[in-house]
Amino acid sequence: MLSISGLSVTYGPVHALTDVSLEVPRGEVTAVIGANGAGKSTLMRTLAGLVKPVAGTATLDGNSILGHKPEDVVRMGVALVPEGRSTVPELTVDENLRLGGMWRSKFERAGLNAEFYDMFPALAQRRNSRADTLSGGERQQLAIGRALMCDPQCLLLDEPSLGLAPLIVTQILELVNRLAVEVNIAVLLVEQNAVTALRVAHTGVVLNLGQVVMSGSAADIASHEELRHAYLGY
Ligand SMILES: Nc1ncnc2c1ncn2[C@@H]1O[C@H](COP(=O)(O)OP(=O)(O)OP(=O)(O)O)[C@@H](O)[C@H]1O
Ligand SMILES: [Mg+2]
Repeated sequence: MLSISGLSVTYGPVHALTDVSLEVPRGEVTAVIGANGAGKSTLMRTLAGLVKPVAGTATLDGNSILGHKPEDVVRMGVALVPEGRSTVPELTVDENLRLGGMWRSKFERAGLNAEFYDMFPALAQRRNSRADTLSGGERQQLAIGRALMCDPQCLLLDEPSLGLAPLIVTQILELVNRLAVEVNIAVLLVEQNAVTALRVAHTGVVLNLGQVVMSGSAADIASHEELRHAYLGY
């Protein structure tokens, strides 16, 4: 379980996160939703060790993940898939996955074999293709697959559905759900698209101007009309 408590982050005078607390259990998808500038990416970057908070704690299975270098946070079991599907365009699918497994990995051993590719049928067919020849949805799968190669206990996904067609979004989110449930990973999914995120998540947290304005079951949040109008714009 990933537990975040009282987390605050500032960029000079900008209060990007204020006293944010939330829990991300294993085997579940927890969605953080909120408009532009709500602080979603800041939360992810802080958990990944890229931004230093001014206050608060974050633990994975009881061990603090704050105050470490990003590469050490990866070793502790936290993998970030940043906004914008980071893959190396000139390398093949296989090569991108191998790069992701530089640290360690049961996935690497099980690795570039049928079992791993079972979860990524689109990638299985393209394993010798260069990343820059993949579609947007395939590239997002590759970015997620690459993060899995570090054998994470906790996966942080920053807007994986951004810019993808609705059908592809559904495929990606089904994959995310399977990873949580079947691999028993704690998944923190950040999305601006609330409808999409709440469809796959078990629990939701609504962030507005860096503060948690509601948390609860995804179904409760999706059916909360005032909240939707006020913060989620639909
Ligand atoms: N490096 C930075 N320096 C200064 N301010 C920043 C920096 N990064 C983000 N901010 C500010 O912090 C706030 C939160 O930004 P953040 O990128 O975390 O939001 P977000 O919810 O991910 O937004 P989006 O939906 O646009 O991705 C915003 O007001 C933003 O302008
Ligand atoms: Mg963002």
